[in-house]
Amino acid sequence: MRCEILTLFPDLVQPVVGQSMLKRAQEKGLLSVTVRNLRDFTQDRHHVADDAPYGGGAGMVMKAEPFFQAVEALQREYGPGSSLRLVMPSPQGCPFSQRLAENLAHERRPLVFLCGHYEGIDERVRVGLQPEEISIGDYVLTGGELAALVMIDAAIRLIPGVLGDPESAHADSFMDSLLDYPHYTRPADVRGLNVPEVLVSGNHEAVRRWRRKAALRNTYLKRPDLLRDRELSAEDRGLLNEISSEPGVAAQCGEEG
Ligand code: ADE
Repeated sequence: MRCEILTLFPDLVQPVVGQSMLKRAQEKGLLSVTVRNLRDFTQDRHHVADDAPYGGGAGMVMKAEPFFQAVEALQREYGPGSSLRLVMPSPQGCPFSQRLAENLAHERRPLVFLCGHYEGIDERVRVGLQPEEISIGDYVLTGGELAALVMIDAAIRLIPGVLGDPESAHADSFMDSLLDYPHYTRPADVRGLNVPEVLVSGNHEAVRRWRRKAALRNTYLKRPDLLRDRELSAEDRGLLNEISSEPGVAAQCGEEG
């Protein structure tokens, strides 16, 4: 996966890109991330990348031209025949999801993230470059950088070879439209809280069934919407019947505020 991040704040992005799984994926040659400072694509002496909004009002708007210049420079760099996939993180975008993460992970074209800051980006960038607008949730961040990093992080762990154990990605929350089951490690007793006995039983089928039921219970309690439009196997239906008659089960994640 090749990622280009266009930003006015490279220092916000660079430390994250150099750590943990993102670092490992780059070392393994499975990911390349280049962070480009939009200020380098300004044309005036003072490298001004933002200006006051037409029509008045609070805040500053990022100028259009540095984005056009940066994308054109990338186009030249990657070669005239190559196409780029432009992504604009924005609260107005399509919702990011595990499915979209998989889609990005399979993308062969370089992914170019156009990161806005302040009040936003001059609308002509959206109209002229027609990037995909993607939102990571219904809240407003100060800029697109953290959203771009979230998308890259979610995508790279799906690239074969990035995670130590390929099973980890398959067992994740959402891979199967279900939340994950709980995980435990040594010691077996933590302050009087014991690991479920089945997990130390050595009975693989019992462990598999326990995990499936725990994933279904988590989903039923925390995200029942994920179960609504889903085809369920006979086993899942049986397990959900058992879960719904457990004492004290009630949805946990209502709308707050
Ligand atoms: N930029 C600001 N808020 C955002 C959000 N929720 N998702 C993606 N990009 C953003």
